Amino acid sequence: MLMLAEVLLAFLLSLLILRFLKLRWAGRRLPPGPTPLPIIGNLWTLSFRLHHETLIQLAKIYGNIFTVWAGETPLIVFSGCKAVKDALISHGQEFSGRPITPFVNQFTQGKGIVASNGHGWRQQRCFGQMFLRRLGLQQEMGLEWQIQEEARHLLESFTSRRGRSLDPSVPIRHAVSNVTGALVFGRRFSSEDRNFQHLLKAINFVVSFNGTHWGRLFDTFPRLMRRVPGPHQEVFVYVEYVRSYVKQEIRSHLENPSDEPKDLTDFYLAQISKTKDDPNSTYDESNMIQLVIDFLLASSDTISTTLHWAVLYMVVYPAVQEEVQKELDAVLIPSQIVCYEDRKRLPYTNAVIHEIQRYANIASVGLARQCTKDTSIRGFLITKGTIIIPNLSSVLFDPEHWETPQQFNPSHFLDEGGNFVTNNAFLPFSAGHRVCLGEQMARIEIFILFASLLRAFTFQLPEGVTEINKDYIYGTVIQPHPYEICAIPRWTILHRRP
Ligand code: HEM
Ligand SMILES: *[C@@H]1O[C@H](CO)[C@@H](O)[C@H](O)[C@H]1NC(C)=O
Ligand SMILES: *[C@@H]1O[C@H](CO)[C@@H](O)[C@H](O)[C@H]1NC(C)=O
Ligand SMILES: *[C@@H]1O[C@H](CO)[C@@H](O)[C@H](O)[C@H]1NC(C)=O
Ligand SMILES: *[C@@H]1O[C@H](CO)[C@@H](O)[C@H](O)[C@H]1NC(C)=O
Repeated sequence: MLMLAEVLLAFLLSLLILRFLKLRWAGRRLPPGPTPLPIIGNLWTLSFRLHHETLIQLAKIYGNIFTVWAGETPLIVFSGCKAVKDALISHGQEFSGRPITPFVNQFTQGKGIVASNGHGWRQQRCFGQMFLRRLGLQQEMGLEWQIQEEARHLLESFTSRRGRSLDPSVPIRHAVSNVTGALVFGRRFSSEDRNFQHLLKAINFVVSFNGTHWGRLFDTFPRLMRRVPGPHQEVFVYVEYVRSYVKQEIRSHLENPSDEPKDLTDFYLAQISKTKDDPNSTYDESNMIQLVIDFLLASSDTISTTLHWAVLYMVVYPAVQEEVQKELDAVLIPSQIVCYEDRKRLPYTNAVIHEIQRYANIASVGLARQCTKDTSIRGFLITKGTIIIPNLSSVLFDPEHWETPQQFNPSHFLDEGGNFVTNNAFLPFSAGHRVCLGEQMARIEIFILFASLLRAFTFQLPEGVTEINKDYIYGTVIQPHPYEICAIPRWTILHRRP
């Protein structure tokens, strides 16, 4: 009996040693990093979480390109402006893949733009780009017009609070979802329309689930987990809800066709019929549903969270807020609607918006990439299929490119003469072949909503409140803790002045 146990133990031990050696062998030409253990990789060193602070230490020890093992999968992390640009731009083609985990695959099936690869990705992305460009250029009822329309409703909704305290994220989220709704389905949403909010919630639930232990468990044992009960089954119900909602929207567009395509759904339907005889076309219903979901997902939380941070920083840095307002008052005519073109005459405001995006760092390390063919970079060999993490936050805080990286400082984007200047290390939208598709749209929306808000209100803490939590919550994007402020209409302030 004892013999058997010993033999078994020896067998297991040698199996582990073999695996250990195999990992060492597999990693022999990869960038340096902490030694991985069988099965758990470096999760031990990282206290089982791919957590922030531990990883910054690793870059200090092992350099700007290092390897960490999530289980037995190596992740190659690029840190700092130079290394990240090397990966995203100089090796743009080689690192243009997206890793698709079993969990993500379960609901995207490799369709759409965000989580797709190869020919399908290229086509869908090209279409998405074309669509956004057309809408951006369009004068009447175009993107900018929709945003200005929503800015007006946003101001009304703040005004109706009459200076009483409120959680600004609620009206901001409504405005941003309404822009997204107009973009994708051609309509804004009344407050009675719970469906759309429900839809966004469902999408967020699915995305944030990806980051949990259940999500990881699913990735490790996909076939088993599909059958086992657990919270992941709830996710599948949500996924079905989202799909059927989008399908229903498509159906109602088909039933009420418009002469001129005006939203994403119209344009996509037109694209399907235009390409139906092309054997290489990937324009079909399943790609359409996923592309619509990608747009809903990518354009709502990102923009509203940026503005949520923006209001918080204005409260925390009242001198900056005042300076922005001074500039807006000096440059804009009172009755005039803010447009994106105005940024050129508003260098300080523009710099503040850039600094908000840098400092808020909402995308954190960004989205993972996958190597599409064997690539040698700085003497390391990175094989096809390897997962790459271009750490965007290490670029936005790179001490070599920012004067005071850890401080909120609009001068990062101003020269001595007070003119706006860009910075090479400003990469909140990433770069290269998979650079954020909605960068232009996001810039327009953030600028118009921010400038409109600051022109109309001064944000301050409610009476009796002296502190605001500046920490973040690490979710799908980096978010502030919920907070309340008062939006004081500025004309009353002006009125009270002698
Ligand atoms: C503040 C706002 C936003 C930020 C900070 C942001 C950031 C990002 C980042 C970091 C990526 C990953 C790029 C990579 O793989 O390296 C990305 C991808 C993407 N973003 Fe955005 N984004 C924003 C708004 C938007 C908006 C408004 C849209 C609207 C359509 C959008 C659509 C997309 C799409 C489709 C992708 C996937 C691109 C691909 O895989 O080819 N984003 N975004
Ligand atoms: C659109 O905006 C209106 C107010 O302007 C708001 O009542 C409604 O809830 C918004 N829709 C969504 C989906 O947030
Ligand atoms: C899901 O999680 C994996 C592993 O943490 C990550 O690589 C991937 O980018 C995530 N996908 C989404 C859509 O958040
Ligand atoms: C379809 O793709 C193949 C291979 O990429 C190419 O050779 C062919 O010309 C394409 N056909 C059309 C109609 O675009
Ligand atoms: C990315 O960079 C940030 C800022 O330098 C750092 O805190 C974080 O640990 C890094 N993450 C990874 C995965 O290297």
